[in-house]
Amino acid sequence: MSGVKIIGTGSYVPEFIADNNKFSEFLDTSDEWITPRTGIKQRHILTDKPNFYMGVQAAQRAIEDAGVNPKDLDLVLVSTCSPDFFYPSMACLIQKKTGAVNAAAIDVNSACTGFITAMDIAQKYLETDHYKKILIVATEKLSSQLDYTDRSMCILFGDAAGAAVVEKSDKPFHSMLGAAGDEFEALYCKIHYNSNCPFYDKEADHYNGIFDTFSKQNFLQSDGHAVYKFAVNAMDKAVRKVAEQRGIDLQDIDLVIPHQANLRIIKKATELLGISQEKVYTNIQNMGNVSSACIPVCLDELSKQGRLKEGMTVCFVGFGAGLTYGACIFDI
Ligand code: UT7
Repeated sequence: MSGVKIIGTGSYVPEFIADNNKFSEFLDTSDEWITPRTGIKQRHILTDKPNFYMGVQAAQRAIEDAGVNPKDLDLVLVSTCSPDFFYPSMACLIQKKTGAVNAAAIDVNSACTGFITAMDIAQKYLETDHYKKILIVATEKLSSQLDYTDRSMCILFGDAAGAAVVEKSDKPFHSMLGAAGDEFEALYCKIHYNSNCPFYDKEADHYNGIFDTFSKQNFLQSDGHAVYKFAVNAMDKAVRKVAEQRGIDLQDIDLVIPHQANLRIIKKATELLGISQEKVYTNIQNMGNVSSACIPVCLDELSKQGRLKEGMTVCFVGFGAGLTYGACIFDI
């Protein structure tokens, strides 16, 4: 099985910062509550543009970093669970704005697990040899889905985008994806249909008024405890699985980039795995949870800091709505 080589990274983080104290101005909350329970000190919010704007910026930076001509990209693969449109896909918008005129364009939605899902898909496309260079973008504007009167959820999330250009490599790459669809109610955001269909039978709508016009139901809904419990187990399972596929000990992993949902989840899961905290990268303190953009934004930060060294064994691990989870392990 061939591998995936990351030849360029990029990210975009909106300028506007909402620190924990800003939330105390309109909610019954405090830095004293938020920091110890989540690790989050601040998050960035895109206040005046659509989500795809961030995806385009991150993509352009990754393309420039890779030194590739956008015309040589064969596929634009975009992960998002906060798209601007039902259609077209975000991938089509990013394909147009980046000048990737010869690329196919596909969106992926496995929520916060999206970047890992896209890496898994990219590996399979690259293996066919018909696709040589793939642009992966994860772009998320969670602020558009949050109820800012719900203190338990709105403090957790932010907005950002991350991107990578990848090509085939001879080095090993292993990945696993999993889903527990029966737990979907632990974390979801309903689509806001604004139907005037005269045949709609509200009484018979078994899915809790899916055609209802705007209501609180259209915001992100979550059972934080259920997600927390699922996350710790899923991360443990996923990392063990990919390390076993690769045939290495957990101690042989040089760097873990986990999904940044809660610092306590990350610590608990990596402690269970026996991976030392120095090997685990986090930026949740400054970014909050930016869903599928967490991992590529971390990756870009590490790359810019010169901390991605040739030969390193890196593991991405994440979980999200679905509920989904996954991991991949590869060498830089
Ligand atoms: O990427 C996947 C999405 N991520 C998630 O869904 C997050 C996963 N879960 C978590 O990170 C944690 O479960 C939370 C951070 C959401 C909650 O932490 P917790 O320690 O489990 O708190 P809790 O839900 O048990 O709430 C404890 C108390 C409650 O008050 P009472 O009922 O004990 O009086 C909450 O109402 O804290 C209250 N509370 C808050 N107080 C101040 C909840 N949110 C806040 C807040 N500020 N922001």
